[in-house]
Amino acid sequence: MTDPKLPVLISAAKIQARIRELGEQISADYPNGHLHMICILKGACFFLTDLARAMKRDVFVDFMGISTYGRGKTSSGEVKVTKDLDIELEGADVLIVEDIVDSGVTLNYLMHLLEQRNPKSLRIVALLDKPERRLRPVHVTYVGFRIPDRFVVGYGLDYAEKYRNLDDICVLDEEPAT
Ligand code: PRP
Repeated sequence: MTDPKLPVLISAAKIQARIRELGEQISADYPNGHLHMICILKGACFFLTDLARAMKRDVFVDFMGISTYGRGKTSSGEVKVTKDLDIELEGADVLIVEDIVDSGVTLNYLMHLLEQRNPKSLRIVALLDKPERRLRPVHVTYVGFRIPDRFVVGYGLDYAEKYRNLDDICVLDEEPAT
């Protein structure tokens, strides 16, 4: 759906075109072996389903739940796993699929956690990157769009659980009047 009250930052057409490019690029980078795509719930599930279908090779998909407290205010956000993976990662090429990298606290924690499971390789694809907000270092191999420090919603991103099902990525610097 669309919300005419919200300004569009990245249109659905641009999102889908960029995902097709990422699918081609990532598929070419992993010509062989098992590729595990790990979706970080909840926001990234929209991106995961489109990206997996843009891939030109077989993939496994799995889901991980994370909750973070204190993120964005201090450099010491506390991260907890609320749903762990179903599939073992030992010896596999692993691609973490995120909707947005903001402070980097979530992905910095996850990279350390998943490295301990001995994957053959471990990389990140993020649809959006807000580099200005970084508090912890994270290397994001594949980035859909680098965006300025604006509060964005849509295509999986929420404000108080609302707006995830917008087709476009929109700016919500203030909660609009209803
Ligand atoms: C968002 C996003 C990342 C994280 C990035 O998730 O999906 O997981 O924040 O922020 P960081 O770089 O500052 O750690 P959120 O906690 O909003 O959960 P959700 O996906 O369920 O909405």
